[in-house]
Amino acid sequence: MVPEEAPEAAKTYFDLQAGWGITKHIGALQATQELAAECHVGIDSYVLVVGCGVGSTPCYLAKQHGCRVVGVDLSQRMVDRSNERAKKKGVLDLVEFRQADAQELPFEDSLFDAVMCESVNAFIPDQRKAAREYVRVVKPGGYVGLNECVWVEPPPPGMADYMWRVMGAEFFPAHEGWKALLEECGLIEVIEKIHTTNALRQWSSEVRQIEPREIASAYLSLPLQCIRNPACRRFARETLRMPRGVFRVFKYFGYGLYVGRKSGKTVDAS
Ligand SMILES: C[S@@+](CC[C@H](N)C(=O)[O-])C[C@H]1O[C@@H](n2cnc3c(N)ncnc32)[C@H](O)[C@@H]1O
Repeated sequence: MVPEEAPEAAKTYFDLQAGWGITKHIGALQATQELAAECHVGIDSYVLVVGCGVGSTPCYLAKQHGCRVVGVDLSQRMVDRSNERAKKKGVLDLVEFRQADAQELPFEDSLFDAVMCESVNAFIPDQRKAAREYVRVVKPGGYVGLNECVWVEPPPPGMADYMWRVMGAEFFPAHEGWKALLEECGLIEVIEKIHTTNALRQWSSEVRQIEPREIASAYLSLPLQCIRNPACRRFARETLRMPRGVFRVFKYFGYGLYVGRKSGKTVDAS
């Protein structure tokens, strides 16, 4: 479960996603591929994916690169979903999932070649504490890579508030804030790559990461979940209370990839 400090909306949002068996991040598979490349993930890498959701990225990395991956998520239901996915994808020998809080990772120092985190930090109460943990557990010369939602243009009135009400993200700071955070935590050569997208591009990349069958079954289960679960009804009600212009969300909303290296010998497993 998301900790008490996290907003109610985030808890509901993740509980529902765990029930559907779907989690996502903006940029979908294309962003994952780019982030993995920037983190120099290759066959010899040992990778930690923080906030792994239903396990799409750990399974993808294991299958695509043949590397060993550990996925952690705050929610045990997400961990269960991830294990089911790993079994289905035939990568149980390469991946391992654990329930853990990004702010207190249960790993020794300097263990991983890369730490990747996609669309998680906006939901974490103490982002600095989490980022310090990523740096602690990565090897000298290893890489920490984040994919974070950013406003690429100031949003129209009501849109930021809508995102907060529906998803409960803590806030989306100015995009330079993520780069500064990684630098403050001791990473060097930090890069920032800002991307815009649109609904069609996002959707077509999503269906390469989430099977259409999974999306269909999530949507079909929604009415039944709304009947059974008051939190789901609240989520549906808030989602439908859209501000004007929400359909143009991708005009304002994009994602940033932030990657930095821990000083020391360079890790390149590709
Ligand atoms: C928007 S989802 C993204 C999931 C996954 N990265 C993906 O792209 O499919 C955010 C995930 O972060 C997890 N999460 C939120 N706060 C966390 C924390 N403090 N530590 C670990 N995971 C966390 C949630 O349970 C959820 O699975």
